[in-house]
Amino acid sequence: MTKRYGILAHPAKHSLSPVMHNTAFKVKNMDAQYDFFDVAPENLEPFMNQVRHDPIMGLSVSLPHKQSVMKYLDEIDENALNIGAVNTVLSRDGKLFGFNTDFIGSNRALLSKVDSLKDKIVVVLGAGGSARAVAYGLLHEGAHVWIKNRTKSKGDAIAMEFAEKFPSEIHSEDWDNWYTGDILINTTSFWLHNRDITEEELPDFCDEEFLKEFDVVMDISYNNGLENFPDPLITPLLAMAEQEDCEIITGEKMLYYQALEQFSIWTEMVAPSRQMYEALMVGLGIEN
Ligand code: ATR
Repeated sequence: MTKRYGILAHPAKHSLSPVMHNTAFKVKNMDAQYDFFDVAPENLEPFMNQVRHDPIMGLSVSLPHKQSVMKYLDEIDENALNIGAVNTVLSRDGKLFGFNTDFIGSNRALLSKVDSLKDKIVVVLGAGGSARAVAYGLLHEGAHVWIKNRTKSKGDAIAMEFAEKFPSEIHSEDWDNWYTGDILINTTSFWLHNRDITEEELPDFCDEEFLKEFDVVMDISYNNGLENFPDPLITPLLAMAEQEDCEIITGEKMLYYQALEQFSIWTEMVAPSRQMYEALMVGLGIEN
């Protein structure tokens, strides 16, 4: 019988996970199919019952379900519990297990450009769900984290919670304090809310005086749909960082590396990484 997997999200139709995982199943000759499960919050409970009984073998979980899905699971691994979000569900022997591969994706994306994160000073912009996973991954690798969020209280909450769990430092700073470090990571949804932004209107975090202090700049946004910045991977932040000779890391990398990990959790096999990356590029409309 064909094994079923899918992306649980709302909306789900823009997800690039199906192209990556269906490609992987094909390469590995698996009788498996990965679908879109667009489930509104009020339908999550019946959907999760269906996952358990139908069964669906694995789920990628995205907004708005990463936290709410947790109460329908039998076991949640320690990292996902600490982050407070599950982005991967595995169904095995009638039980549902939750994991978080976002922090692994973020770390692997960073480690594709830096040898080690140990003792690096990293400024993280934002304090939403993505920032939590990114900051957790950084602390896990021994980096020191400065969170800067528009609403400082949200950054304070993450810093307070994670400071107890790791020996390296985590602080929360005012949005207007321009701390510098080795690595800058944008996790905010700024681009999503400013699709018509022009070069003249860029936010302060794209300022060249600020950026030139960093060695590496990562933006976890991709496929921006910005009217004046047509490259789906080069956000205005990354364009400015390139001008300041920073190494840049584009947003599809985190998605890609977390998907490789997800595939391994579901199948206990090494993911066909090259083919999955090629599929992701095709999905993004980018020629390799
Ligand atoms: P995700 O799960 O992708 O992290 P989220 O939880 O909605 O999404 O978080 C979005 C983040 O982007 C928040 O940190 C938000 O700041 P606030 O906590 O102040 O809301 C940040 N953000 C969104 N729009 C922003 C803007 N125009 N300027 C600065 N930060 C912004």
